[in-house]
Amino acid sequence: MAMNAPRGTQDILPGTVEKWQYIEETLRDLSHRFHYKEIRTPIFEHTELFQRGVGDSTDIVQKEMYTFEDRGGRSITLRPEGTASVVRSFVQNKLYGLANQPTKLFYFGPMFRYERPQQGRYRQFIQFGMEALGSEDPAVDAEVLSFAMKAYEELGLKSLKLVLNSLGDQVSREAHRQALVDHFSPHKEELCGDCQLRLEQNPLRVLDCKKDKDHPAMETAPSILEYLNEFSETYFDQVKRYLDAMGIDYEVDPNLVRGLDYYNHTAFEIMSEAEGFGAITTLSGGGRYNGLVEDIGGPDTPGIGFALSIERLLMALEAEGVELPAEDALDCYVIAMGEKAELEAVKLVDQLRSNGLQVDKDYLQKKMKAQFKAADRLKAKKVVILGDREIEEGVGNVKDMTSGEQKEVKLEEIVNELKVEKEE
Ligand code: HAM
Repeated sequence: MAMNAPRGTQDILPGTVEKWQYIEETLRDLSHRFHYKEIRTPIFEHTELFQRGVGDSTDIVQKEMYTFEDRGGRSITLRPEGTASVVRSFVQNKLYGLANQPTKLFYFGPMFRYERPQQGRYRQFIQFGMEALGSEDPAVDAEVLSFAMKAYEELGLKSLKLVLNSLGDQVSREAHRQALVDHFSPHKEELCGDCQLRLEQNPLRVLDCKKDKDHPAMETAPSILEYLNEFSETYFDQVKRYLDAMGIDYEVDPNLVRGLDYYNHTAFEIMSEAEGFGAITTLSGGGRYNGLVEDIGGPDTPGIGFALSIERLLMALEAEGVELPAEDALDCYVIAMGEKAELEAVKLVDQLRSNGLQVDKDYLQKKMKAQFKAADRLKAKKVVILGDREIEEGVGNVKDMTSGEQKEVKLEEIVNELKVEKEE
């Protein structure tokens, strides 16, 4: 039986992996400029972390987690997202005690959700995310939003839309929650089974339902923005003012709820508006989560962050026809004909590599012509040709593949010559 990768997962092969590396480097560089430091947390955690962190009423916890019992009888879950793990680590390692606050962290890594696979939706996907913990300054919200937009823009995307909402603080949310219960209760029987439960557990989730999205009561549902208290409203205004100051465009959507329970105040998503992008247009999402650190057992600490998946980012790049500059040309290919030349070639390849050049040679005993073809295919910038006659004379032929120029160089000078030319 042929073995295939599990549904909803994919191999990233050479030829494509260079794009991933380019994206990762760009995001690392941007994180450096924004002064966020990398954190690496385990891929699996105690299931309880996500039940408490992401929220019992979410689709993620109810339907999508890869949960299993380990051999010690503990319930373990492959992480469906990064925020709960980062907050757990922040609390466990007492990062709140460090002198420099807020603690600004970023992460890369695979996340796992048992969703119905389709274009842009995988069961294992790679997220890049960032979290700023320890400040309730709206300027940090604006910083995270600016980062998210820059990440896409620096990679060459243009058709983007930033959608913004405020979910308010605890008091505003309570008032809105009650208004939602009052609004939807008369229609309870018409809603799907999930929504009937959501109405009791977390009525905000009803607004995010895919099944009931066309129910007439959805359109007239009370908007959170009408229930923001003064503090929440001022906070939201301040975030918007910072965005305006930085020249970042956005659209306020009072129905933007997000699929995780920990959010309050700022919530946002970035969508692709590129033609032909596909059905799922959300590229990334995030928001503020001021109660989460406390829920996970730490001191009352505010936080905000966002995450994007590289898979959807690549889809957007493709939809907009953006080519990433993936450098894959060899510096040099060494061709050898004859026994003595072969010995010299192995030595030369090794020395060139020690001197920082990307070099390869033939390992299939191919004829000279086929070796030249290989050098062409590999886009070698230079080719060194060694034959037994040349070795006896203590020289090699160095060919510049762009100009076609060929010259004899003393064997002991080849390394230096190629090194100098690479540096020029
Ligand atoms: P999320 O909206 O669940 O938020 O996921 C963030 C992003 O991950 C999505 O916008 C999407 O690009 C990507 N994503 C989610 N599921 C899949 C999937 N099945 N296949 C491919 N890509 C996917 C979070 O995860 C939060 N932890 C974000 C956050 C950080 N909020 C505050 N800090």
